[in-house]
Amino acid sequence: MTDGILIRPIRRTDVPAFRELLDAVCRERRHLAFTEAPALAEVYRYVTGLIGRKDVQIVAKSGDELTGWCDVTRLDLPGFGHCGRLGMGVAAPFRGRGIGTALLNEALRRARENGLSRVELEVFASNEAAIRLYLKAGFVVEGRKIGARILDGITDDVCLMTLNLTDCRAAVFSEPSPSR
Ligand SMILES: CC(C)(COP(=O)(O)OP(=O)(O)OC[C@H]1O[C@@H](n2cnc3c(N)ncnc32)[C@H](O)[C@@H]1OP(=O)(O)O)[C@@H](O)C(=O)NCCC(=O)NCCS
Repeated sequence: MTDGILIRPIRRTDVPAFRELLDAVCRERRHLAFTEAPALAEVYRYVTGLIGRKDVQIVAKSGDELTGWCDVTRLDLPGFGHCGRLGMGVAAPFRGRGIGTALLNEALRRARENGLSRVELEVFASNEAAIRLYLKAGFVVEGRKIGARILDGITDDVCLMTLNLTDCRAAVFSEPSPSR
């Protein structure tokens, strides 16, 4: 399903393409909280910070094109260092081909390797594809913010989903990691 797709950690040279993809997904105005990507310099700072802290950011490359990302950033507060916050996206024309699954599996594998035991994310309740993907990976819904967003006249709830990496039955941990 993901033949010809390379799954690997982000590099600084990926930043312009990553920003472009992030911006495209933001501008869909549905699945992410931002409606446009931050400026390029800010994205450089963000990605450089992630790389420097050895946080997880995985990208998918289809030929020369950057077609997806998944990051898990460790929470930088006393008492929260075992937790990571997950975000991800796949370019619209490339969805439904297994890229999201491959990115998520690799990011979770690396997050666990980095010693994280809890991964959290927030997802709009209307985002059926993402919720199914997370449930399949073993995430559970821990809470729900009712009517958290009203955008373009549409009211949406936000679900808090979490994965316990120490008690994980997800198939992801028993499979060999994809090529990188
Ligand atoms: C969510 C997202 C990352 C999934 O990536 P993807 O590459 O399309 O995912 P996959 O092809 O690996 O599919 C994984 C699972 O997601 C679910 N899924 C994917 N597309 C779906 C759809 N259109 N409807 C319902 N479920 C869907 C299915 O459970 C699927 O597994 P299955 O094929 O075994 O049934 C992608 O849809 C996306 O980028 N959406 C916009 C950004 C976004 O929502 N980010 C997450 C914010 S929390």
